[in-house]
Amino acid sequence: MINDKKVLYSGMQATGNLTLGNYLGALKNWLDLKDEYECFWGVMDLHSLTVRQEPAEFRKKARNLLILYIAAGLDPKENCIYFQSHVSAHAELSWLLSCFTYMGELNRMTQFKEKSAKHSDNINAGLFTYPVLMAADILLYQADYVPVGKDQKQHLEITRDIAERFNSIYGDVFTIPEPYIGKGGAKIMSLQDPLKKMSKSDENVNGSIYLMDDADTVVRKCKRAVTDSDGEIRYAEEKPGISNLLEIYSSCSNISIADAEKEFAGKGYGDFKLAVAEAVNAVLAPMQKEYERLQKEKDFIDGIIKENDEKAAYIANKTLRKARKKLGLTEKPR
Ligand code: TRP
Repeated sequence: MINDKKVLYSGMQATGNLTLGNYLGALKNWLDLKDEYECFWGVMDLHSLTVRQEPAEFRKKARNLLILYIAAGLDPKENCIYFQSHVSAHAELSWLLSCFTYMGELNRMTQFKEKSAKHSDNINAGLFTYPVLMAADILLYQADYVPVGKDQKQHLEITRDIAERFNSIYGDVFTIPEPYIGKGGAKIMSLQDPLKKMSKSDENVNGSIYLMDDADTVVRKCKRAVTDSDGEIRYAEEKPGISNLLEIYSSCSNISIADAEKEFAGKGYGDFKLAVAEAVNAVLAPMQKEYERLQKEKDFIDGIIKENDEKAAYIANKTLRKARKKLGLTEKPR
C-alpha cells in the first residue's frame, strides 16, 4: 500500500514500434487503473538488452516509449513513469533473487524456449534469467497487482514462487503479487493473418497498424485486411478476419461487438473496412498530436524523468535494503 492505495506494476519493453494491439490490449486499459491504484509504468530497457540493439536507435526508442505512455494519457504526476535502467536496485535485487531461483524453473519457461529458438545465434544468460529481473521489477515496489497478458503469466507465477520462497526463509519481505484480471484488453490479431497476434516484430508491416501510422496508411492497411467470401459482418470463430475488424472497431469506438454488428448489418466489407479505419484514426490522431507536441518539450520530459526516477528509486531502495539486511550482507557504515 502506498497512500492507502494498492500498488500496481507493469511495463513494456523498449523495442519495436508499438502497435494498435499493444494499445488496445494493454495501454488503453492502464488508463482505467491510473486513479484507483498507485501505478508504476516502467520502460523496460534492461530487458531489451537480451536482444542486440543498435545503441543510437535504442536510446531514441526508449525515450519515445516513455513519451508515448504520456501521450496516450498516463499521468506522470499521478503515476510513476520511469526507466528501469535508471533505478539500479532492479539489477541488484535481480542478482539476489537469482540465488533463490532454480535452473530447472527457468528451463521450463516457454518464452525462453521460444526466444532461444528465434535467436539461436545469441542465447545469452540474460535471456535465461529474464524472468528473475522481471521478478525484481515487481517485488521492489511491493506490487499487489500486475496486469499481464497470457504470454507473461508464467513469468508472474515464477515471481510469486521466488517471493514465497524468500519470505518463507526470511519473513515477510515481499508482497506476493496477483495477476490483475480486469475486464481484459482486446486481443488484436494480424490484419494479414488473423489467426496470429498483431505483433510489433511482425515482418509483414501490413499485418500491423503502428501507433505512428498516418491516416492514409491506416486506410490502406484496413482495406487490405484479409477477410472471407461469405459477405456477412458478424463475429464468428470461422470468420477470424471480420471478427478481428469488429474487435478493433468496437474497442476504438467503445461500443459492444453486438452493437457494432447491428450497425453494419447488411453493409458490404468495403464500407465496413473504411469505417474501421476511421475509428482507428480517431483514436490515433489525438495521441500522435500529443506525442509530436511532447517531443518538442525536452525540458518538461527531462523533468518528468528526473522526478519519477527519484520516486521509483526511493521505494525500490527501501525494499532492497530490507532484502540485503535479511540476507546478512554487511551494512554500509554511515
Ligand atoms: N516481460 C514483459 C513483456 O515483454 C515486460 C516486463 C518486464 C514487465 N518487467 C515487467 C511486465 C514487470 C510487467 C511487470 O511484455
